[in-house]
Amino acid sequence: MSGALLRAEALRVAFADRARKRPFRSAPRVEVLHGGDFAIHAGEAVGIVGESGSGKTTLGRALVRLLEPAGGRVVFDGTDITHAPEPTLRGLRARMQMVFQNPLASLNPRRTIAASVAAPLVARGERAVRAPVLAALERAGLSAVLAGRYPHQLSGGQRQRVGIARAIVTRPDFILADEIVSGLDVATQAQILDLLRTLRREMGLALAFITHDLSVVRVLCERVVVMRQGAIVEEGGCAAVFAAPRHPYTRRLLAAIPLPEVDDAWLDAAEPDADAA
Ligand SMILES: Nc1ncnc2c1ncn2[C@@H]1O[C@H](COP(=O)(O)OP(=O)(O)O)[C@@H](O)[C@H]1O
Ligand SMILES: [Mg+2]
Repeated sequence: MSGALLRAEALRVAFADRARKRPFRSAPRVEVLHGGDFAIHAGEAVGIVGESGSGKTTLGRALVRLLEPAGGRVVFDGTDITHAPEPTLRGLRARMQMVFQNPLASLNPRRTIAASVAAPLVARGERAVRAPVLAALERAGLSAVLAGRYPHQLSGGQRQRVGIARAIVTRPDFILADEIVSGLDVATQAQILDLLRTLRREMGLALAFITHDLSVVRVLCERVVVMRQGAIVEEGGCAAVFAAPRHPYTRRLLAAIPLPEVDDAWLDAAEPDADAA
């Protein structure tokens, strides 16, 4: 794992027990991530897959230190950030950004698009934000016209592009994307995945892509990590894992990828009708 841009060793995360009605200081904590090892190299794209509740988001949030781990270590570019204080993290956040599943929830409804995208720059004390914000919007495929609009005035795909623009505005080395295409229709999903591929190439980004959808990983990532019940159960190159999954759970996940529903022959036959209509 040496030379990794970001690496986690024996990472454990515990939450206060939700079932407890009254949060006593001694409330028992429930461990939901049990000793995860993870590494990503500069410029690499790694898929983190597993069914809902398997701990993908928890691992991701611990990796970028939105959560403080209960055990283990997180090292970003040689700096141990496992228990780094907020000022240290603020400095590093420009280099590791996150795009969230639900852009409507992660964008402030009362802020213009420009203000949302500028937020990471403002957070690190930059005053001249106009040029980098417009550049990030353009890179994310958004017209400068949208800069003065509000999140509710945009389509779902456009809002997710705003999330991406905000994540790239500081020119980070690493982006964690958590289920960012899950709420979008298939055509918009394909456009967003295409954008991520382009950004990786142009900006040399390392990308951790969390998804429950293995077919997305196949088009975007070189490596895949499979999670189940708070543990990493399989890991390897996408080609190898998809061709010969070792863990029975991975085999089940792969079997669950829906086959394309389009029947080409039927489409050809249907086309003249469509023209006539
Ligand atoms: N803030 C929290 N407090 C208590 N339990 C949580 C919290 N966040 C997640 N969990 C629990 O941790 C487990 C893993 O959740 P999560 O990381 O969100 O899974 P995934 O992203 O794979 O769906 C689940 O059992 C979930 O209920
Ligand atoms: Mg999740």
